[in-house]
Amino acid sequence: MADALGELKRTHYCGALREGDVGRPVTLMGWAATRRYLGGVVFIDLRDREGICQVVARPEVSKEAHAAADRVRGEWVLAVVGEVAKRSADTVNVKIPTGAVEVLAREIRVLSEARTPPFPIEDEITTSEEIRLKYRYLDLRRPRMQRNIALRHRVTMEVRRYLDEQGFYEIETPFLTKSTPEGARDYLVPSRVHHGSFYALPQSPQIFKQILMVAGMDKYFQVARCFRDEDLRADRQPEFTQVDIEMSYPRVETIVDLIEPLYQRLVALVGVEVRRPFPRLTYAEAMERYGSDKPDLRFGMPITDVTDEMRTLGLDTFPGLISAGARARAIVLPASGGVSGTRLRKINEELWLGRIVADARASKRNLFSLKSTDEAVGNLARKGARESVARQMLDRAGAERDDTVLVAVDEPGPLAMALGILRLEMGRALGLVDEKAYRFVWVTHFPLFERDAAGHLQSVNHPFTAPLDEDLPLLESDPTRARAQAYDVVLNGTEAGGGSIRIHDSGLQAKVFRILSLSEEETRERFGFFIEALQYGTPPHGGIALGLDRIVMILAGESSLRDVIAFPKTASATDLMSGSPSPVRDDQIGDLGILVVRK
Ligand code: AMO
Repeated sequence: MADALGELKRTHYCGALREGDVGRPVTLMGWAATRRYLGGVVFIDLRDREGICQVVARPEVSKEAHAAADRVRGEWVLAVVGEVAKRSADTVNVKIPTGAVEVLAREIRVLSEARTPPFPIEDEITTSEEIRLKYRYLDLRRPRMQRNIALRHRVTMEVRRYLDEQGFYEIETPFLTKSTPEGARDYLVPSRVHHGSFYALPQSPQIFKQILMVAGMDKYFQVARCFRDEDLRADRQPEFTQVDIEMSYPRVETIVDLIEPLYQRLVALVGVEVRRPFPRLTYAEAMERYGSDKPDLRFGMPITDVTDEMRTLGLDTFPGLISAGARARAIVLPASGGVSGTRLRKINEELWLGRIVADARASKRNLFSLKSTDEAVGNLARKGARESVARQMLDRAGAERDDTVLVAVDEPGPLAMALGILRLEMGRALGLVDEKAYRFVWVTHFPLFERDAAGHLQSVNHPFTAPLDEDLPLLESDPTRARAQAYDVVLNGTEAGGGSIRIHDSGLQAKVFRILSLSEEETRERFGFFIEALQYGTPPHGGIALGLDRIVMILAGESSLRDVIAFPKTASATDLMSGSPSPVRDDQIGDLGILVVRK
């Protein structure tokens, strides 16, 4: 039988006690993390949100408390009334902040008993993530998860404080709504009242936030839950949180000046100072130099173009490829790295044999390496290469003595992607990534459209993104060359946020839908209300959405979003604790007017 909480009031958190509290009467509440005996005395480590404190039950202080302590098992919930005492010098525990003190128990109440947990409530566990997620409430009790959730709270509050200071209103937009095109599938909710009709959960509040600008709210933000039914990865969850922002009359610079200080304040929460302005790259520069639109700038190793050198080198290494339009690009592996020939061959296979380009070219050898030494250049010359060109190539790539230059040859698109991955892999393998650094970069001037596998134009960002003014004529003549007033903010190689200046002219908006091959009828049906809203006096507007889960993940030093979300989903979008999604009763389905085809 558990004891009643009764009149007891907590006076301190367990983790808050310090030497200055010695002599104070305290009442603590928490979980029994461990219990030990030593010479007839019971020691209990009592744990709460703020940390752990040692409780000592001596029979000479209180027989009852000692008897109660004797009964206690792991994860029982206790109330401890006692007095803070200084530990003797030889028993001080320097590993915990409360290690200089302990609490001498005068009374111990057992508020709840507990079943034996399926894994220990501590940081270093090897338990499978499945079990952790099934017993998420126990997993969340672990100090590391408590720290992560606390950090998430502090980040969210700092966001709210900052945006409030900047004059933004926090406004909620609906969950039961119409589809917003952000490139994923919708989660649909059938309507009971309108059979055959469905709400879509928002992929983002995009249309609503733009309408809030038409509605005169001027500056909006929301800590917004978004829902996307897409393939999941470590940095993607089916429901995730954005700091969603929109404002009237901004230029790109206005958004940059708003967001950089916000990130500075967020990173300051973990005691790190980042400098402004953040560097900027155009999309074209990012792809050319880093082979990625989210370059990790925690290390160098830029990509250089050595097509001319490869063409005139005089070696027949890539027969026909370069003359058929392929490019040759290089990265430099520093001498200290020491990458073996076997490893290079393996990379070559992995990169081109299926992982990236699963087509006919896979059989060709696309990677060529040259060590920056006289001997290696001499060897090449003996095979027929022009020595001066080989040296020029090493120079162009920026190789120092003994470095290795890796040259890859392919068509520009796949080549950029392959080298981007190669650069990341090599950077990590050679230990060049500064794990402690926070390297932000803006990537701007994204293309407005791209072609999907079937050759149809689709929006790179979303269809509300404004083109650059000077690229407007390209909408008619060559839409794939049109660039967008869009920007992403990238942190350590992760897309931390993205946004754009929007189209505020209903005619231009309708034109973009036409370019995307939406029929007039489809446009009217899906976006008619929005195009109509734009016709009632729309201020030029723009905004951004920051991935809240991602920034917290990076600040917490975690590599999975699941470790910073209280109740996340697995890679197959299930919640192992509650067991959702789950079948529903036939009568519920009947009410909704839908038929389920069971596989
Ligand atoms: P976007 O789709 O780029 O833009 O999303 C903005 C940011 O949200 C984060 N994010 C995700 N985080 C976790 N799991 C996911 N599945 C996921 N998808 C995206 C990323 C990303 O940078 N409406 C536009 C914003 C705008 O134009 O203002 C939008 O949603 O960090």
